[in-house]
Amino acid sequence: MCRPGTMADVADLPLVLGIETSCDETGVGLVRGTTLIADAVASSVEEHARFGGVVPEVASRAHVEAMVPTIERACREGGVALSDVDAVAVTSGPGLAGALLVGVAAGKALALSLGRPLYGVNHLSAHVAVDQLEHGPLPEPCVALLVSGGHSSLLLVADVTSGVEPLGATIDDAAGEAFDKVARLLGLPFPGGPQIDRAASGGGEITIDFPRGLTGGRDLERHRFDFSFSGLKTAVARWVEARERAGEAVPVADVAASFQEAVCDVLTRKAVEACRSSGTVHLVIGGGVAANSRLRVLAQERAAEHGIRVRVPRPSLCTDNGAMVAALGSELVRRGRTPSDYDFPADSSMPVTRVVA
Ligand code: KG4
Ligand code: ZN
Repeated sequence: MCRPGTMADVADLPLVLGIETSCDETGVGLVRGTTLIADAVASSVEEHARFGGVVPEVASRAHVEAMVPTIERACREGGVALSDVDAVAVTSGPGLAGALLVGVAAGKALALSLGRPLYGVNHLSAHVAVDQLEHGPLPEPCVALLVSGGHSSLLLVADVTSGVEPLGATIDDAAGEAFDKVARLLGLPFPGGPQIDRAASGGGEITIDFPRGLTGGRDLERHRFDFSFSGLKTAVARWVEARERAGEAVPVADVAASFQEAVCDVLTRKAVEACRSSGTVHLVIGGGVAANSRLRVLAQERAAEHGIRVRVPRPSLCTDNGAMVAALGSELVRRGRTPSDYDFPADSSMPVTRVVA
């Protein structure tokens, strides 16, 4: 007979510790099954702010300093000892090479010293798997829209632990990168996504019709599920320059709102189209840009028109964290997937089709 799980059942499931260091967040998460036990994140974002982007060497050093305290904090929050951990998962790619190396070395040291299996996992698959912690087992197949500072991809996910098929990706800037660059143009601090999101909520008086890349004619035919945001970024720059040249004040909130609308329009249009063309009724959105308030609303609206159900984890699980790595690790354990050999490398350009190193 099927009955709802109880806390006692959850306590019997393997405890998986996940480590994330692909960019500027040192994340350590603990997961049992699809239950989040702890999620400790230390960010070096403030150290990068004055450079307007993540400085790889600064990020690597910050990971070295934060790693042990963050592991300790996760164990404290979860009320567990390291010896309780049954398996370790770590992001092995893609990401910044030096930053990944710190996490991979820590994951190997931990797994070897505890005598536990180790899974080197794909960061993008982890952004999909994390949704399980909030909404329960992942519906498969599903289409995943992954939008972060480094990636903008549409994936068809038959099995998050093995079968991920790329449908399209950005051909230039990632969506988060576009948010960060446009924020800079508008004099808003790094990281720009949350700043634009906030500024846009006060906009809407003037609507500027910024371009939607790869959405018409031959471009659309050749790049049906690909994205392009560099033309949009240039259009915003030209618009702002023209205002400044004319000696007029730049209406920051309106530019932010119109830019955000252009990005969210393209992302949601193509994501819904990818679901329809693959006959998939589930759309999962992940990555830092999935924290965007307009993207969340527009995706729900557009998907509902076509009977597609949207799952987006809460904002703190959308941005980089260790819980997402533990969530994917937990699923790999549950499905009996083979762990990685202890000598796998950090792979800064790990292909999205490869889930485990
Ligand atoms: O997934 P993530 O934490 O790290 C990467 O793997 O890149 O994503 C970071 C990106 C940044 O570009 C940041 O500006 C963007 O996500 N971001 C947002 C929002 N919150 C974070 N973009 C738009 N709206 C937001 N609310
Ligand atoms: Zn990410």
